[in-house]
Amino acid sequence: MKIKWLGHSAFQITTNNYLKILIDPFISNNPVAPVKVEELAADLILVTHGHQDHFGDTMEIADRTGAAIIANHEHSVYLSKQGFEAMGMNIGGSTKVQDIKVTMLNSNHSSDMDFIEDICPGGSSCGFILTMENNRKIYHSGDTGLFGDMKTVIRDVYQPDIALLPIGDLFTMGPEEAAIAAHWINPEIVIPMHYNTFPQIEQNPLEYAERVEKLNPNIKVVALEPGEEYEE
Ligand code: NI
Ligand code: MN
Repeated sequence: MKIKWLGHSAFQITTNNYLKILIDPFISNNPVAPVKVEELAADLILVTHGHQDHFGDTMEIADRTGAAIIANHEHSVYLSKQGFEAMGMNIGGSTKVQDIKVTMLNSNHSSDMDFIEDICPGGSSCGFILTMENNRKIYHSGDTGLFGDMKTVIRDVYQPDIALLPIGDLFTMGPEEAAIAAHWINPEIVIPMHYNTFPQIEQNPLEYAERVEKLNPNIKVVALEPGEEYEE
């Protein structure tokens, strides 16, 4: 499988069976996006919450590619009113898309649909666990602060192998909290996200890696450049 970082919290995951999954496809207004939105392939789009730096180009990409959309219930209602077939889920639920299991989990954030003119409540923000065909588990936390589920539900029940965690601070955890999050979740690999998109969330991923190393030397921090992939 390949996990390509598209900058910010946007990732394109290509499964061993060539399913292309986009998470939080914020591309056209993303100053560090390494691709043009019209070039992106997708079979499935997952949206963690309604902020425009996550919902991003979901509708444009789904329209062009016919990709299925998974989001929370409130977003699915909005999307169906726009003519899209979105699968609404809620916290704790799972569904299968071909051979991939998608589980929606809590995050500690907000989720108004701020891309709509009159800001619209968008339910709860969330994270996702993807259970791949070989049983490897990828956790995308969405935007979040440090919260207790990371050392209980997420670590003990779901045991992710790879965690994608925000380190940018201001809107989410900063590097200090995100290092503790990595320690609590205890995955093999952490890929930092939600940093260096804008000046307000500038961070040094190498400093983050040092913080994680100090707390738990068994965790490997893989800091990608936008457009770069982690492959296994
Ligand atoms: Ni947000
Ligand atoms: Mn965000």
